[in-house]
Amino acid sequence: MEQQEKQALAREALSARKRAYAPYSQYRVGAALLGTNGTIYLGCNIENSSYGATNCAERTAFFKAVSEGCLTFKGIAIAGGPKEEEDKLSDYAYPCGICRQVMAEFCKEDFEILVVKAADEFETYSLGQMLPSSFTGDKLG
Ligand code: THU
Repeated sequence: MEQQEKQALAREALSARKRAYAPYSQYRVGAALLGTNGTIYLGCNIENSSYGATNCAERTAFFKAVSEGCLTFKGIAIAGGPKEEEDKLSDYAYPCGICRQVMAEFCKEDFEILVVKAADEFETYSLGQMLPSSFTGDKLG
């Protein structure tokens, strides 16, 4: 992704974070997923009183995209932090293992993962860096 495209995605992740439903952890996460069709799919974490039923922001974004027919992606921006923080986060939030595995279902190793502190402050990783030697469906059937 170009720098401008990355900044736009970072801004969208910060905006998606405002819709987080996180009454238990008070930790709000937003994600913005860019499809190869040019559409940005937003996601937030959605917690549940039965904690295991919680869905992460990244998976919310992926499941929205796939359910709307988009199966190929360029990158995702992720912004997470305690609810008191707004558009300038004190730390980067890295995707959990389950979300990395969901990314690996649909994306190749060059898929870009941005972790965001602010619209102009983020780090870029590839999926290959974040989930090396991943298990993929081509081993099955
Ligand atoms: N969370 C995410 O949304 N994404 C991650 O990659 C890690 C964790 C959420 C789940 C839960 O609502 C809160 O952060 C604390 O774990």
